[in-house]
Amino acid sequence: MTLLPTAPSTNSEAARTAVRGSVVVAEEQTAGRGRLDRSWEAPVGAALTFSAVVAPELPDLHWPLIPLAAGLAVADAVRRSGVIPTLKWPNDVLVGRGKLAGILVERTGSPPVAVIGIGLNVDQSEAELPVPPATSLRLAGAEAAGADRTEVFGRILAELTDRLRDLRTDPAGFVAKYRRACGTLGQEVEVQLPDGSRVRGTAETVDDEGRLAVRRGDGGTLVVSAGDVVHLRAADGDMI
Ligand code: BTN
Repeated sequence: MTLLPTAPSTNSEAARTAVRGSVVVAEEQTAGRGRLDRSWEAPVGAALTFSAVVAPELPDLHWPLIPLAAGLAVADAVRRSGVIPTLKWPNDVLVGRGKLAGILVERTGSPPVAVIGIGLNVDQSEAELPVPPATSLRLAGAEAAGADRTEVFGRILAELTDRLRDLRTDPAGFVAKYRRACGTLGQEVEVQLPDGSRVRGTAETVDDEGRLAVRRGDGGTLVVSAGDVVHLRAADGDMI
């Protein structure tokens, strides 16, 4: 493991050497990156920001399941901190309306490795969090031990190892487990697609390749492999 006081982005740093089995952790990122070309920011020392390089030994068809596996691993790890997370497809970890963790998985090299980047808000105060709504383990009420970065880090790595093993040995079983944990399913959603267009409908299922199937108002089904989901809450007009 490499622990850096500062790095532009742990994903970029891990991808530079791409040594399988390596993990790069940084106290601070100066150019942290998120999904869909977004940035990811956190005050120095307040978040857990790291990237793990893995050679997942999966057929190409199953690579899109890696981000889902990482989301499930983080959700299961933080549940043991005493908070109740939900998963928003594909891999945002929420507590209530707030985003607790974000995950960016990138593929690089030949033979390819996956760089699994995880940013978990641990100790931020309300004022230190970005908008749209975010939360931290501290604000979500994790007990003191549960909000210890080293402790949570160890749990995430252990869960991630287990979920990646599930992907190799029983991908269908893994997807079934993900579906049970995914708070997006059954919700009215708006999906913003990478071309900027938006589609509304009901999130029906996640298929065996990790794509989200959304039933539109006209009865058709849209299958989404990349996009940003908003959970629409008709009752109070609230969105996540
Ligand atoms: C997202 O929510 O869009 C994904 C955010 C991913 C942030 C993590 S922090 C560690 C790793 N390094 C990065 O530059 N990004 C990921």
